[in-house]
Amino acid sequence: MGAFWSQLLPPRPAFTEANTPALDGRVFIVTGGNAGIGLELVKMLYARGGCTVYIASRSSTRIAAAIADLKSTVDTNKTRPTELKSIVVDFEDLTTISKAVSEFLKQESRLDVLWNNAGRMQAPPGSTTAQGYEAHMGTNCLGPHLFTKLLLPLLLKTAKIAPSSSVRVINTSSQIVDTTAPPGGLVMAHQEPGKHILDKNLSYAESKTGNWFLASELDKRTRGDGLVCVVQNPGNLATKGWDPVSLLGKLMIAPFLYDAKMGAYTELWAGLCEEVTTQDGGKYGVPWGRWHPSPRKDILESLQSEEEGGTGLAAAFWLWCEEQTAPYAL
Ligand SMILES: NC(=O)c1ccc[n+]([C@@H]2O[C@H](COP(=O)([O-])OP(=O)(O)OC[C@H]3O[C@@H](n4cnc5c(N)ncnc54)[C@H](OP(=O)(O)O)[C@@H]3O)[C@@H](O)[C@H]2O)c1
Repeated sequence: MGAFWSQLLPPRPAFTEANTPALDGRVFIVTGGNAGIGLELVKMLYARGGCTVYIASRSSTRIAAAIADLKSTVDTNKTRPTELKSIVVDFEDLTTISKAVSEFLKQESRLDVLWNNAGRMQAPPGSTTAQGYEAHMGTNCLGPHLFTKLLLPLLLKTAKIAPSSSVRVINTSSQIVDTTAPPGGLVMAHQEPGKHILDKNLSYAESKTGNWFLASELDKRTRGDGLVCVVQNPGNLATKGWDPVSLLGKLMIAPFLYDAKMGAYTELWAGLCEEVTTQDGGKYGVPWGRWHPSPRKDILESLQSEEEGGTGLAAAFWLWCEEQTAPYAL
């Protein structure tokens, strides 16, 4: 089966709640954990017990409502309950990120898995972030890049004491990278404030390639430090992320959308399956928890430096994200 159909009609998940390892004492962050795929992942971690899970998103009220609902509908492990906490952060506004990370760092001395799941899709053409970046690129790449960078020292510290390959950064991509991203995966010129393309599917696809580039580049920069950095397409799921789509569009995609819980299996596998190791750094996972059977050759070339025979586009994108976020890293 080709990569397109294999992601649209995936085989059953092999890694689920049933084989999730013990999580005792571990600390997790799920960005966008109050809704959609992220919420389903938080439910799985909560039910397993013994860990602390931070939900990171924009509204303390929406996070509190999700936690209250989860506690009243899902059983946690009675002897080793999961603690649920919040991080209020807006990835569309780079000025909110360092404060959010500081608050987290005051509370925790370890971080085992960061699921960079929060994201925006179907933003109207012309939408921008607080700093004037295209909305998908700003929300899905620049904000999470700064968030990850500020959490990196704690992740690396945790990797020194935690079991091998258990400390991870999991980025979230989409099948749209296979179908819609431009040659090479993204066009740097599209990302500059004021030079945005007015095609929401293309700009979303570029941001989701960006998520892959950032996972790959983080892996290259931390090789040997024990951190696993991978990216995954959770699958096509029925969530509020599709709300902005027209009624006709909704009718067309409905037959291909699965319950959000299935997407959480892809993220659970990437974050916790023991078969995923540092050797897999930079790889691309697909639904419901396996490696992409045939990643796009042009994007694989972007992941390689010119010395390695590639184009070095992913490294250029990483440097661009570094430059744009540097003023907000203090
Ligand atoms: N659904 C799909 O079919 C599909 C397919 C492929 C990939 N994905 C990816 O999967 C991820 C999750 O999507 P979903 O479908 O679960 O979407 P969703 O139901 O719309 O949930 C998005 C989550 O992200 C948070 N979020 C959005 N903008 C944010 C911001 N500026 N700052 C902080 N948090 C923000 C939201 O919380 P608040 O709004 O409360 O802040 C919410 O918790 C996204 O990265 C998406 O691109 C989804």
